[in-house]
Amino acid sequence: MRHFLTLADFSKDEILEIIDLAVKIKKQTKMGEKVPYMENKTLAMIFEKSSTRTRVSFEVGIYQLGGVGLFLSSSDLQIGRGEPIKDTSRVISSMCDMVMIRTYEHEKLEEFAKYSKVPVINGLTDSYHPVQLVTDYLTMLEFGKGENSVVAYVGDGNNMAHSWLMLSAILGLELRVATPKGYECDSKIVERALELAKSSGAKIIFTNEPKEAVEGADVVTTDTWISMGQEAEKEKRVKDFKGFMVDKELFSLAKDDAIFLHCLPAYRGWEVSEELFEEQSKVIFQEAENRLHAQKGIMVWLDSKRGEVE
Ligand code: CP
Ligand code: NVA
Repeated sequence: MRHFLTLADFSKDEILEIIDLAVKIKKQTKMGEKVPYMENKTLAMIFEKSSTRTRVSFEVGIYQLGGVGLFLSSSDLQIGRGEPIKDTSRVISSMCDMVMIRTYEHEKLEEFAKYSKVPVINGLTDSYHPVQLVTDYLTMLEFGKGENSVVAYVGDGNNMAHSWLMLSAILGLELRVATPKGYECDSKIVERALELAKSSGAKIIFTNEPKEAVEGADVVTTDTWISMGQEAEKEKRVKDFKGFMVDKELFSLAKDDAIFLHCLPAYRGWEVSEELFEEQSKVIFQEAENRLHAQKGIMVWLDSKRGEVE
């Protein structure tokens, strides 16, 4: 049995296998074919944070696969009143076939997975957002980008930046990460990515200068400066991130056919300008729709590994 907690637990072949599955199921769904790969299976979805895309894509995804999703808000669960994670895990995983969790500390997700009898999927933690990266790579491929592409991440050294690090390190991409001083990626995660990059040949560089990252890039991406849970730091962050907005001027340094990705929600006038966002909206909303297809690929892949001994 396998969990989907961070991309670091996956080989390049496995990530590409999941993406191939997502592409296949997307095609079948678009052609109006039924995709009952998880008939009568149940997916528990535990949310400790807000969500639009993750919730809708997992719930619609499991339904289209022939199963059913249970939306479980932590404020309604006993977990919100102090029931231990390990007990919640043992109970829910005895009744459901798969669990998706969106929470704060990554360790909570790991604790849940440790006690779970069924595959657990990371629907975002403070450290990683791996399901988004499967989507982003799928979207890159659809727009003619791939292993030889240079990706520039401009913004906060947060869960999205960490997930880009892992994806690039495993697939062997060139990634340039530009963060303001004091908002760099977590050093342990960087260390892990650089270790993985040694065998894949990935080229990863870090800078505090957005232009340096974007120059000649094939893909430019960013994320909110204020992640869920950081609302109290809003005023300080908006000041500290001055100069890090991806606008048309900065984007013009990228290749002529470059694309702009954003996991959403986007805050125009902060991490991205209104003008660039609207100009790139075809890519951005295809990326958002791809959450549905990527989710199905991930769930079907994990389900196929249920009986396997590692
Ligand atoms: N990108 C993303 O995960 O969106 P939600 O927070 O709406 O799920
Ligand atoms: N970094 C953001 C991603 C939202 C999808 C957050 O954690 O809030």
